[in-house]
Amino acid sequence: MASTFLVTGATRGLGLEFARQLSQRGEDVLATARDPKNAGELTTFRLAIGGLDVSDPISIEGLTEAMADRPLDVLINNAGVGSHTKSIADCTADELQRVFMVNSVAPLLVAKAVLPSLRLGKRKLIVSVSSQLASITNNNGGSSYAYRASKTALNQLNRSLANELGPEGFTCVVVHPGWVRTDMGGPGAPILPADSVKMLLKLIDGLTPSDNGKFFNNDGTILPW
Ligand SMILES: NC(=O)c1ccc[n+]([C@@H]2O[C@H](COP(=O)([O-])OP(=O)(O)OC[C@H]3O[C@@H](n4cnc5c(N)ncnc54)[C@H](OP(=O)(O)O)[C@@H]3O)[C@@H](O)[C@H]2O)c1
Repeated sequence: MASTFLVTGATRGLGLEFARQLSQRGEDVLATARDPKNAGELTTFRLAIGGLDVSDPISIEGLTEAMADRPLDVLINNAGVGSHTKSIADCTADELQRVFMVNSVAPLLVAKAVLPSLRLGKRKLIVSVSSQLASITNNNGGSSYAYRASKTALNQLNRSLANELGPEGFTCVVVHPGWVRTDMGGPGAPILPADSVKMLLKLIDGLTPSDNGKFFNNDGTILPW
């Protein structure tokens, strides 16, 4: 039986690939885009497209009404932005806030907005796409100030969410997709979006409540905080 998935940031890269593979295997997919009318290839898939700008809390709040208590099995918080904050000299309040809004704040607010629907779903699964750059333990190279810290904050917010929702049967995890050849990953990245998403869907399909709160690599191994 098909499950219902919501994928944010589905116009390009990993989000587009999640939408493609999930719709191809017959799942019930709601894919979101900032401008659904100009969502390019996404409009050719067999799925529903909703409008969502994750940098805008009002747009996120609109999801609750759009879902209208329709059951949702899996939320994939995929939308994300990079940042050119190589050095402290590049770090401004505006840039840090821009990146934190999309990469850290939005995934939590999206989860909050669709919680009534997730509570009605069969899987009660929240998957947020993080990055190995979130790992403080592995941060020996510095650089990427805003991006690294925003994904570390995402991991911490997810852990709090996992602790709160775990007793209701939720599984909330953060996942690293690998270094993937997308607009964000760049042309030199070794992993194709199709291969990354295939690995992530295998991981997601196998998740159980015993995985709640964990930080996974794409191959299902655990990454250090
Ligand atoms: N690629 C990698 O190597 C890599 C590694 C680790 C983690 N990740 C994470 O994987 C996720 C997907 O990355 P990607 O490589 O696929 O990036 P990408 O190719 O740059 O695509 C980013 C997606 O996020 C959407 N997005 C950005 N800001 C948005 C906003 N304010 N509202 C709604 N959607 C927004 C974009 O929509 P628009 O088309 O409207 O801009 C696009 O669909 C991100 O969370 C990223 O941090 C990627």
